[in-house]
Amino acid sequence: MSGRIVYVTGASSGIGRGAAVRFAADGDRVVLLGRDEARLAEAVAECGPGATSAAFDVTDAAAVDAALPALLERTGPPDVVVHNAGQTIVGSLDQLTAQQWHRQLDVNLTSIHTLNRHLWPAMAVAGGSIVLVASTASFAGFPQDAAYVATKGAVLALSKAMALDGAPVGIRVNAVCPGFILTPNLQGFFDAQDDPDGAAASAASAAPLARMGTPADVAGAIAFLVSPDAGFVTGASLLVDGGLLARVPTS
Ligand code: NAI
Repeated sequence: MSGRIVYVTGASSGIGRGAAVRFAADGDRVVLLGRDEARLAEAVAECGPGATSAAFDVTDAAAVDAALPALLERTGPPDVVVHNAGQTIVGSLDQLTAQQWHRQLDVNLTSIHTLNRHLWPAMAVAGGSIVLVASTASFAGFPQDAAYVATKGAVLALSKAMALDGAPVGIRVNAVCPGFILTPNLQGFFDAQDDPDGAAASAASAAPLARMGTPADVAGAIAFLVSPDAGFVTGASLLVDGGLLARVPTS
């Protein structure tokens, strides 16, 4: 039982939930952040005793400012923060409305700043470890996904800047870059395609390991990055993509 205090955003489903469950199984005290109280309650129950949650929209700075100070007072400073909350708003740049563009940036990128205003000073007292959930889209584009790809490129860059600023105060910052991980978010991306089943099948076959990943696959990588085994690792990115980006297309 390591007993760390671990904050995970977007913890009610998918990768965030998988990470929360993994940390709880490792003996950590997990704080699950999300929007949907009912789904958060289910995730807290899955994590077991010691887990707690708070519901707010990570793009709502006023709600974050209202919730986080009291939560930090209650839990104590986090040892680990996983910035995972995200969504995908599909469309090429010319198709996206200004509202969609800004919403995508708000959820996937600006939210990290919004929460960090509270979490970083609390963590900087004793040090800790942060993981930003980026994507293979941090390295390569996807069609019809312009704003999402832009945010994930920025998240990867941000992780390096944060790593430099964190080093003097004992905070390591790394990025995990998942490939196709079967979650409600990815299912929504498939459903927005002309041929959802075909899109899912092609995602599964695209990686050399010939399957989509699971939230547990990503949780394992996050667990490593925040562990003592990664004590000399900061400003790094870890692909969890089944080899997707290792392959040079030959046909
Ligand atoms: P998901 O849809 O299953 O979970 C996303 C979580 O973020 C949910 O708990 C949702 O409530 C929360 N969330 C979204 N917008 C929010 C907001 N405004 N305020 C508070 N909470 C909010 O999605 P998934 O797939 O687990 O995605 C998690 C992260 O992983 C995202 O950042 C996503 O971009 C990233 N990712 C996912 C990949 C995949 O294939 N599933 C691949 C690469 C990256």
